[in-house]
Amino acid sequence: MFWNTKNAGKMLSAAVIGFSAILAPVISSSVFAQETAATFDWTREDVSKIKMNEENTAPVINKEKLEELSEDFLVWDTWPLQDRNGHPAVVNGYKVIFALTVPSDVIPGKRHDTAEIRYFYAKDGKSWQLGGRLFDDGKALGSRQWAGSAMIDKDGKVHIFYTATGRKNENKLTYEQRLATAAADIVTTNASVAFENWSEHKIILEPDGEYYQTESQSNQGESSYAFRDPYFFQDPKSGQEYILFEANSAGTLSERACQPDSSKPYNASIGIAKASSDSLTEFEALPPLLEANCVNDELERPSIIVKGNQYYLFAKTHHEKFAPGLDAPEGLYGFMSGSLLSGYKPLNGSGLVISNPKDNPYQAYSWMVMPNGTVISFVNYVHVEGKDIQQIGEQTPDYQKDHFGGMLAPSLKISMADDKTRILHEKKQGVFR
Ligand code: FRU
Repeated sequence: MFWNTKNAGKMLSAAVIGFSAILAPVISSSVFAQETAATFDWTREDVSKIKMNEENTAPVINKEKLEELSEDFLVWDTWPLQDRNGHPAVVNGYKVIFALTVPSDVIPGKRHDTAEIRYFYAKDGKSWQLGGRLFDDGKALGSRQWAGSAMIDKDGKVHIFYTATGRKNENKLTYEQRLATAAADIVTTNASVAFENWSEHKIILEPDGEYYQTESQSNQGESSYAFRDPYFFQDPKSGQEYILFEANSAGTLSERACQPDSSKPYNASIGIAKASSDSLTEFEALPPLLEANCVNDELERPSIIVKGNQYYLFAKTHHEKFAPGLDAPEGLYGFMSGSLLSGYKPLNGSGLVISNPKDNPYQAYSWMVMPNGTVISFVNYVHVEGKDIQQIGEQTPDYQKDHFGGMLAPSLKISMADDKTRILHEKKQGVFR
C-alpha cells in the first residue's frame, strides 16, 4: 500500500533512535534490548465490526437532573491531577481537576476560540469548588489553551502539559497547535488550593513532518488539523516518561491513496514522544502508536493505563470524523498491547468501548478512563432531535445554549478483561475514583 514508504521509516528500533550508526553496533545489545516501535494501523475492516449493544452503549443522560460544575463557566474537556502512576492524586486531602472553560455566555460552538484552563478542588472528590484560572495573565503560550494533563511529582512539583493553540496576541485566529508545559508549586490551606512559583512556559514538541503532519502539509487540501492534547505517561515497566498526543499522519493529501478515494483526507494518528530531560521539558518524537489512515480524522485526547501486563490505549472521536463508507458512533475507542510501542489490537474486535446512545448521539464527549475503570466525560449536546453536529452549529445561540451541557457527565464504570471491555454501571456525576 502507498503508506509503506512511511511505515518502513517507522519500523525503527526505539533503542537505536538517538544513537549514531557507528555507536549502536558496539553497544551491547542486551543493555539496549528495548522493544521495536511499529505503528498499529486501525483499519476500515476493524471499524466495520462495530456493533452497538448493552455492553458498550451508555445510559441516556438527563441534563435536567444534573448540576453544573460552575454557574459562571461552560466546562468541557476535564482531567485530574494525577500521580506519576496515573492515579488521581490526593494532595493534603484535596483532589484537583482541570478543565477547558469559557464564560457561560459564550456560544457553545465558539468555545474553542477562547478556551482557558481553570482548576477545581474538592476534599470529597465530588463537590468541586472553582479555584480559578490556572495560569497567570499573559503567561500561557498560544492565543488560547486546549486540553492536556497534569502530574504531581514526588517532590510536590506540579507539571502541567497543555496545547498552545495559535499565537499569543495574534490578530486573526490561527490553528497552529504546539505541545507546551509549565511547572508550579501547589499550595494548600484548610480552605483552598493554589498554584504558585510558576516556571517559564516552554514548548516541548512541534510536528516534524516525518512522523507527524505539519500545519503547512495539512493546509495543502485538508480542512482538519491536529497536533494537540499532551498526556503524560510513565511506563511502569521501564520507568521511561512519555507524552502521548493527538496528531495526523505526515505528508500531504496528494501523496496518499485510499479506497474509496474520498477517504483520503482521513489521517488521524496517536503520537508518542519520550522525555529526554529530567525536568520533563524536552521530548523526542517517536513513530506513532497508531494510525487511522483512510479511516478516521481525529483521535482526540489519547491516554493510556496499564492493567496487569497490558497497556490499554484510549482515544475519543466523533461520528462524522469517520471516513465515507464507515458508520461508527461518537464514542470512546480503545486498543490493547503487551508492549507500549507496538502490537496493539482493537478492544472488542472493533475498538468501540463506549458509545453514546442512538437517540442521544452527542450527549457526552471526551471520556477519560481512570486506572480503576471509572470513566469521566462532559455533557455535550443533548436531545437534538435528529440534527447532526453541523446542523446544531447552525442553530441560534439560544438553541445551542439550551442543548449544550457544559458540565461533567455522570461517570461510568467499565471492566477491562484481556481485550474485552464492558460498561458495568453509571456512577455519580463528577466522580473520578
Ligand atoms: C476535544 C477537543 C480537544 C481539544 C479541545 C479544544 O473535545 O477537540 O481535542 O484540545 O477539544 O477545545
